[in-house]
Amino acid sequence: MCGIVGYIGKERASTHIYDGLSALEYRGYDSVGISVIDERIHTIKRSGRVNTLKEYLNILEGRIGIGHTRWATHGKPTQINAHPHNCGVFSIVHNGIIENATQIKHNLINNGHTFISQTDTEVMLHLIWDNYNSICSENSANNSTFIDMTVDSSAHCDITEQVTIGQQPNTVMQEGDCCMDPAYLVLLAINRALAQLSGSFAIALLCEHCKDCIFVAKRSAPLLIGLGQDNAVVASDVCALGGGCDNALVLADDCVGAVYIDKVCCYDINMDAVQLTSMSIEHNRVQHIDKQQDYMIMEIGQCPLSIQDTMAGFGQGVDMVSFSRFCRTIDRIMLVGCGTAYHSCVTAKYLIEAMANVSVEVDIASEYRYRNPIMHSKTLFIAVSQSGETADTIFALKLAKKGGLTTMVITNAPTSTITTIADYVFITKCGQEVGVAATKSYCGQLAVFISLALLLARIKLNTDTTSLEQQSALVHAQAKSIIDNQQELKALSNIVADSQSVFYIGRNIDYATALEGSLKLKEITYMHSEGYPAGELKHGTIALISDKSLVIGIVTVKHVADKTMTALHEVKARGAKVLLITCFAQYLQDEVVDYHYLLPYSPSLFMPLLSILPLQLIAYYVAKGKNYDADKPRNLAKSVTVE
Ligand code: M6R
Repeated sequence: MCGIVGYIGKERASTHIYDGLSALEYRGYDSVGISVIDERIHTIKRSGRVNTLKEYLNILEGRIGIGHTRWATHGKPTQINAHPHNCGVFSIVHNGIIENATQIKHNLINNGHTFISQTDTEVMLHLIWDNYNSICSENSANNSTFIDMTVDSSAHCDITEQVTIGQQPNTVMQEGDCCMDPAYLVLLAINRALAQLSGSFAIALLCEHCKDCIFVAKRSAPLLIGLGQDNAVVASDVCALGGGCDNALVLADDCVGAVYIDKVCCYDINMDAVQLTSMSIEHNRVQHIDKQQDYMIMEIGQCPLSIQDTMAGFGQGVDMVSFSRFCRTIDRIMLVGCGTAYHSCVTAKYLIEAMANVSVEVDIASEYRYRNPIMHSKTLFIAVSQSGETADTIFALKLAKKGGLTTMVITNAPTSTITTIADYVFITKCGQEVGVAATKSYCGQLAVFISLALLLARIKLNTDTTSLEQQSALVHAQAKSIIDNQQELKALSNIVADSQSVFYIGRNIDYATALEGSLKLKEITYMHSEGYPAGELKHGTIALISDKSLVIGIVTVKHVADKTMTALHEVKARGAKVLLITCFAQYLQDEVVDYHYLLPYSPSLFMPLLSILPLQLIAYYVAKGKNYDADKPRNLAKSVTVE
């Protein structure tokens, strides 16, 4: 969570940083700030979204700067807690969590530091400042020749005079106090601070003693560096690097670096100089759309194309000979993900077991990584992540790799961290997804799983999948017909909006769809909702059903359809209203059905691609009806890079 960006160039830094932050806003949007450096550091920060800074860009004149868009972990989303944080000669932006911040803060307070925010970032900064002062003192004690440092060490100002700058500790480095390259001293200070920190982080830091560079460091959080013709950019994600760079330099964990306009000096944990690895990047900038339209509705509209392109591109860039050879040997598949990605895994369990007779286990990534999972070499481990940056999913994948499992990832982000870890990388061809609610990426993930289920059926059971493959070519057209006729769903959204609680129920793959439909509704409408296996209701949850409840039954799997209908009778008997979503027309006449939506019919392998669409559309229209921002729901971020 949180997006960081830095710019060094010949143009006004604040404008470039603002553009970068706008691109990174999907990572968090509760507060925002920019620091630039000319003779001094100038900082402006605000609670609220990136556009709250727009009016200040003209007064931030420096050519070097850093910026941050925040998703609060430590401390409320106030202006004081917003980044950048300043202390001594430094200004810092940070993405991540410092897990031992409380202990370090305690020690620093005992050493005379005072803090003005509740953030772990301010603690980290004071620790760097503390180390810097110690290093400079050691250095000046050992040397008699001082270099001239044209620095005013009290130099901080907030142009808007609305932010109090952090107190400096008692020891303040003075002008001319050291003889070594000041940039090296800063890097050493950061390096020493890192050794004292636990957690994950990516940082960018300005120092008034080094006015020609941005300092960077990272551990288990993304940070890329792009060198252009006459600028350098650092950012949490490729999308904020700007069009000028064709390659990104990747900082390794626990390395520290100084980024200049034309070069990067990087050191490893032992302060030995290291070369950065370079990767070519595809610029996938989001096209700005007519502001009358939300990204979410546009992205639901792109589901049919995502399905088509992802199925057509299945296995592109993968060594399918080696992958298929390994798949022949497996007797188990382990699937992990978070949120929507987890729901695609739940769907995949039903699909793969039914099609290929391979045992599939599913887990939430944050559970898997802490449960000491049993690992067998005949297991294919699959991690699913739209962003490829979800911390828990990455750690689960690393754990599986460490345990010797063969690993595969399904992601929508070809240059994301997760792609650098797995043995096989399958890309969903959805294009960048901006809305926080995952929609087209869910369809893309399902499309990969369906293609995988067909592949496994062929190579493990010798199944002739020709007719199913022919059918798959029709699914995107069926999906498009749902999108094209969404007025009916818009009308149904009023019924949903008027309910106190909404229960989504289904069996088999319809249960997985129920989970995802419920998540869509709660995350963008803030309504109480639950996704439940239809057979499980009467083991407790049915106690919640009343005449203020709406139960949405999803019925697309023939052999369990009657059973879900029975559950609908049971909730109807307790006063609930019933909305039935089915591809079987005969159930529409059932007396318990108050409202219905008829899906196009397809073999059950493909039905999850169709049955989710009305649920996404209903959630969207409920949010619109309530005047909520469907693209940026409260408390959420698109990419969850902290655990
Ligand atoms: O980028 P990822 O797929 O790893 O993200 C996982 C979840 O954070 C994500 O699916 C989240 O649940 C969405 N907001 C759901 O719409």
